[in-house]
Amino acid sequence: MTAGPGDVHDGGPLDDRTLGRFADALPDPCIVLDRRAAVLHCNALAAQHFPGVSTGVPLAFSLRAPTLLAAIDAARVTGAAQTVELHQTIPTETWHRVSIAPLADGGRLVVVLQSLTEQKRLNAMRTDFIANVSHELRTPLTSLIGFIDTLLGPAARDEAARLKFLSIMRGQAARMSKLIDDLLSLSRIEMRQHVRPTGSVDVGRLLREVRDGLQTQAEAAGVALDLALPEEAAVVTGDRDELYEVFENLFDNAIKYGGDGGRVEVVLAPVSSRPGYAYMVTVADHGAGIEQEHVPRLTERFYRIDAESSRRKKGTGLGLAIVKHILNRHRGALAISSRPGEGTRVEVLLAR
Ligand SMILES: Nc1ncnc2c1ncn2[C@@H]1O[C@H](COP(=O)(O)OP(=O)(O)O)[C@@H](O)[C@H]1O
Ligand SMILES: [Mg+2]
Repeated sequence: MTAGPGDVHDGGPLDDRTLGRFADALPDPCIVLDRRAAVLHCNALAAQHFPGVSTGVPLAFSLRAPTLLAAIDAARVTGAAQTVELHQTIPTETWHRVSIAPLADGGRLVVVLQSLTEQKRLNAMRTDFIANVSHELRTPLTSLIGFIDTLLGPAARDEAARLKFLSIMRGQAARMSKLIDDLLSLSRIEMRQHVRPTGSVDVGRLLREVRDGLQTQAEAAGVALDLALPEEAAVVTGDRDELYEVFENLFDNAIKYGGDGGRVEVVLAPVSSRPGYAYMVTVADHGAGIEQEHVPRLTERFYRIDAESSRRKKGTGLGLAIVKHILNRHRGALAISSRPGEGTRVEVLLAR
């Protein structure tokens, strides 16, 4: 007898052991069931995912997932492959696409799980982000439309009201513009996330420039901005404009949210105790500080402890997210520590 095209093995059924080895080689959790839906083989990933499953025992005994068990029954009865989505909440929330494929040669079933968790998480993040952006833009826009209507109608001939409203409108438009700038900045940095910067930046000089740029704002808030710089130039590889943005954001936060303390201290110093880093910049204020529960979330987009106060202070809630992304790109690090009532201390580590 000669072998026909496509006839690459001897034509006999795959024995259970070979099938098991095949399942072990898959990169996803895989369970092989016999014709009665008892477990013939469970690869390591599946055993990890379903700790209760054991060989020789019907899957229905160890697994409480009605949709999955119903799909397995359907595959057994009809002989047709089935796909279902499995959503589990214990021990953590996970989603999987489960494919149940009957083998042609004798009623065994191959069940393979493909994780959808990461995809779901990204989708949720995207939806969240769009909702946040829309909300942040809608608030000033609604106010702008309100003032325009007032100026067209009831206040059409009221000179004093017009001047007052126009100045508020200017502020709302500026807020929208700042939000768009921050969003563009964030997406630009994200796009370049994996490209290392090539410029060379004198950090001491940069800090002086940032301080000079914020001097008027600091004086208006009654805050003294102290800089302590080392004698020697501290030069790092980096993108000057991006690093400017980092320190501008941090100084601005210290003045805005920690200004009550009247003093913001910035120290630049070489570090030797932290492998991989050459310099540390600390920005310390003596303001109200931050409750511990908020600290780990401050670099999330739009995370603000008090959204109203941040908006009043022309904040977008994107500042620290931008800072974190820029530092990632520079292989730097950010650490925030704070004691309520005593102030906040932000450390930036920079690689040479
Ligand atoms: N030095 C600080 N002291 C107290 N709270 C701070 C400080 N820096 C940042 N925060 C808090 O972190 C939040 C996020 O900061 P950021 O991302 O820069 O947004 P924004 O400045 O636009 O509000 C701020 O809204 C504020 O609640
Ligand atoms: Mg900020």
